[in-house]
Amino acid sequence: VCPGSLIVVSNRQPYRHEYDTASEDSGGDGDRSTGTSSITVDEPTGGLTAGLDPVVQASEGTWIAWGDGEADFDVADDDGCIAVPPDDESYTLQRIDLSEEAVDSYYYGFSNRVLWPLCHGFVDLVENRSNDFEWYRTVNERFADAVAEHAEADSIVWVQDYHFGLAPRMIRESVPRSTTVAQFWHIPWPTPASFQHCPAGRAILQGLLGNDLLGFHVDRYVERFLDCVERYLPGADVDRTQRTVAYGGETTRIVATPMGVDAPTHDGNARAVESDQLSSLFDRYDISRENVIGLGVDRLDYSKGIPERLAAIERLLERNPGWHGEFTFLQTATPSRTDIDAYQRHGDLVRSEVTRINRRFGTDDWEPIVYTEDYLSNEELSGLYRRADLMVVSPLVDGMNLVAQEYVAASVDGDGVLVLSEGTGAHERLGSHALTIDPTDVDGFASQLEAAVTMAPRERQRRMNTLRNRVFDGDLEWWMETQFDWIRRVHADKRRDG
Ligand code: G6P
Repeated sequence: VCPGSLIVVSNRQPYRHEYDTASEDSGGDGDRSTGTSSITVDEPTGGLTAGLDPVVQASEGTWIAWGDGEADFDVADDDGCIAVPPDDESYTLQRIDLSEEAVDSYYYGFSNRVLWPLCHGFVDLVENRSNDFEWYRTVNERFADAVAEHAEADSIVWVQDYHFGLAPRMIRESVPRSTTVAQFWHIPWPTPASFQHCPAGRAILQGLLGNDLLGFHVDRYVERFLDCVERYLPGADVDRTQRTVAYGGETTRIVATPMGVDAPTHDGNARAVESDQLSSLFDRYDISRENVIGLGVDRLDYSKGIPERLAAIERLLERNPGWHGEFTFLQTATPSRTDIDAYQRHGDLVRSEVTRINRRFGTDDWEPIVYTEDYLSNEELSGLYRRADLMVVSPLVDGMNLVAQEYVAASVDGDGVLVLSEGTGAHERLGSHALTIDPTDVDGFASQLEAAVTMAPRERQRRMNTLRNRVFDGDLEWWMETQFDWIRRVHADKRRDG
């Protein structure tokens, strides 16, 4: 059994092992760390996993996650444990092996057909298939059992996101009393009107109140969570001032801590980008270097407001014939959760809208929208962020949105404009110096795009300076420290109260 005092639980793992078909074909050496010629390891490249990895390394803790790599269990021991990072083994990754049926029901089912649409307010897309919740419970139990094997007195368990709405109570019931259980819910919390459609809603609330600490990005999610507890969980005692809930003899503290990005790294990457790297990217997509460049970077998800963004660009082009040939919008989209119909339909809609708009306005040597699902490296993305004259982040609803903050961190010349939806958590931090949009108001959205394109250099610099200060002040390191301060505080309170 893997030792350790900090135990992180997340659906996605920090390191994934895959068979390297390229090296098999070419007879290459494969990955040196595994000693196996045909297995490579993907390392964390961004976001939470990359940010948490050094923290777990420093604590010599344990990370428990779904082993979704094809070669994951060939390199792990019989318990699914493997020491990572491969080059400097300092903590244990315990992989949970999930059957295809379990993945279909827990991940593609209850997590992403029920909780994801429900929490984002897309109640019509909720699809509650029989057995999905039972599998969600079973998988939560498997993760909780794994935690229980590692937890010792004074351990800290830190659970990530909506894949684990039941696990905290299961963990609480099987670990020493002095173990602190905390969770961060990275997506929005819904209004009571949406939450009433949640199958097993009461079990989810009970599960989450197994935590000593429960974090959300912004105050409004905290308030809505407390509203739901008051409305749907009889016997819970909500203290609005302290933001605590007493339930079943335990107290949970609920806090809002907006997550940030690794701003110094994005800044450094953007400064390091060579101009020929960017030129070759522009050549690859046939974009004129002189054009005004608008940028969108998203997972291909119906919550991201991509069709609404395309409609606003269409309106912009209708109103401004003089910009034809001079303005290019580059949209990169990463296909996601494609086993789910709603995602397939959404991908089809986005692609067909791009084609339609390009047919309507495009010429032999200019396409207004360049759309790609290609993988772009962090360096390429940083280069694009730096070069883009405007960045459009238009989700209908988004828990936080890290892309908006990455753009700001990479805008090292201070001359980019952020167009930001009021439906994002990030809007609370950046809204006053971004150009705010309601993604469903096509005319208003198009007007803000016009304002972004025509904004005077001094005004761009003024806004971007403030945005950069906010993004650097509330970066990933700050978020992590703030979460750990809270964790230490609830831990100390528990010890004091016995
Ligand atoms: C959101 C969720 C994460 C998730 C990510 C990518 O940001 O909050 O937990 O990892 O989307 O989605 P995926 O389903 O591919 O993990």
